[in-house]
Amino acid sequence: MKILGIDLGTSNMLACDEKGKIFLNEPSVIAFSKKKGEIIALGNRAREMIGKTHEDIEAIHPVKNGAITDQKVFESIVKKILKMKYRGLLSRPKICITTHSGTTNVEKRALYEAAINAGVKEVYFIQETLASAIGAGFSVSEAKGVLLVNIGGGTTDISIISLGGVVVGDTLKTAGKSLDEAIMMHMRQKYSMVIGENTAEEIKNKIGIAHPDEEKLSLEVKGRKIVDGSPVSATVSSEDVYEAILEPLKNIAAKIKEIIERTPPELISDILEEGVILTGGVSLMKGIHKFISESLNMKVKKIENPVTCVIEGIGFIFNSKDLLNEICEKMP
Ligand SMILES: Nc1ncnc2c1ncn2[C@@H]1O[C@H](COP(=O)(O)OP(=O)(O)O)[C@@H](O)[C@H]1O
Ligand SMILES: [Mg+2]
Repeated sequence: MKILGIDLGTSNMLACDEKGKIFLNEPSVIAFSKKKGEIIALGNRAREMIGKTHEDIEAIHPVKNGAITDQKVFESIVKKILKMKYRGLLSRPKICITTHSGTTNVEKRALYEAAINAGVKEVYFIQETLASAIGAGFSVSEAKGVLLVNIGGGTTDISIISLGGVVVGDTLKTAGKSLDEAIMMHMRQKYSMVIGENTAEEIKNKIGIAHPDEEKLSLEVKGRKIVDGSPVSATVSSEDVYEAILEPLKNIAAKIKEIIERTPPELISDILEEGVILTGGVSLMKGIHKFISESLNMKVKKIENPVTCVIEGIGFIFNSKDLLNEICEKMP
């Protein structure tokens, strides 16, 4: 069977083939030629091109706050991904793509139509949290409850999973990018300095801590003075980051708590026993497990592959006999 898995995130896009082999793992950016009306490059190559080529080429971030904004752009991405794997298309392949708790049927329909236009035969949908639980090594078909929290670039997805489905779940727009914005705000307030989004992300990822017990580091960053726009640099510390991101982190913890409160009582004991399973790029931040654990007064599990677990979960499904039909939703 020809089938590809696609995890199109706000920050990163990944794809795997029918054997589960990952052949794409790059930033979610595309370079689009307005004149040609098509994608010139995607991922790292697109990022390198932007700003260095002529005006005709624009950078597009196809996913905003976890949602694919433009059907045509999605169609071109699928086309490009199909081309990466299959040269001559004899028979049309299938694809499996991820959704969130908040993805509507109208949105799914739009994705389906775009994929069909790109040359796909059938589309399978899987909730991202479900795929990440599988990729993290949990067996989700049992009647056992698992609490999965995926903190990505644009969204935090929280799901209670049991019997191959999401029992209770919600999507929050507070995630990696919100932390970057909080750092930018902090730099304005404390250092009267404007920094770019990429600088804020670099600060977060290099020296960010989510718990005061973690080792403190510092980083010299460049920006502009608020008053006159002149260049300036400052030394930022891990404590700065902690102070800046504490509020958004508290929002995430509060949402997890709310989901736990909505969990059917028969699943609560499983969840307390297993703890929170934390995935997504932000789970790489030092101290985040401890922060969430202390906020909720429960165990938090660290997994080995927090960034690739979604696509690995899809690969696992492809390699299992019945899982695709059991837990994915098929269109048409
Ligand atoms: N070491 C790190 N510390 C904190 N955040 C990180 C780290 N590494 C990556 N991230 C953040 O993780 C997010 C991307 O996570 P990912 O799960 O790939 O997101 P998505 O699935 O939404 O594309 C980005 O906001 C990125 O800055
Ligand atoms: Mg993701």
